[in-house]
Amino acid sequence: MASKARKDNEEFENGAFAPTGPHDQHSPGEAGAARQEPVPDETDLAAMARERKEHVVGDVSDFSEGSHRVVTVGGRQIGIFNINGEFFGLPNVCPHQTGPLCEGKTTTGTLVANEENDWQFEWAYEGEIVACPWHGLEYHIPTGRCLAFSNIKLRTYEVLVEDGKVKVRV
Ligand code: FES
Repeated sequence: MASKARKDNEEFENGAFAPTGPHDQHSPGEAGAARQEPVPDETDLAAMARERKEHVVGDVSDFSEGSHRVVTVGGRQIGIFNINGEFFGLPNVCPHQTGPLCEGKTTTGTLVANEENDWQFEWAYEGEIVACPWHGLEYHIPTGRCLAFSNIKLRTYEVLVEDGKVKVRV
């Protein structure tokens, strides 16, 4: 059990710990601040990218546009999303209480208000948001950002399409 929790935490960046609820007053980033890892430089990142292996997870026809499914690669569950022909991968584990976040049935968009649109709510990111089926925390699939807690960012996996095969780099 302890090893599972340790593995799950590897899926979140910044060593962020899960909040205890969507309206938690404490910043998850504060809890993780004491154990922040050193930031790898560009040479380290290039070496890490080379070490990642590509794994075939299916045919392109298995992932129609707007669909997603969870695959298992090297013992990890990864959600593969096809958003308008572009593929993305996220860990199938939610930082809140380790819910299977990529098993949310559909993807959607969200309301956005900012200075650029004069603080008027507008629908945006259609098809790019998945909600965890357990308690509803929403994540932006291309970036892994949690909408409610901007300091929580999921690891993202590179997903490639070559010769009609969908491959994920892990
Ligand atoms: S486990 Fe609670 S929102 Fe995902």
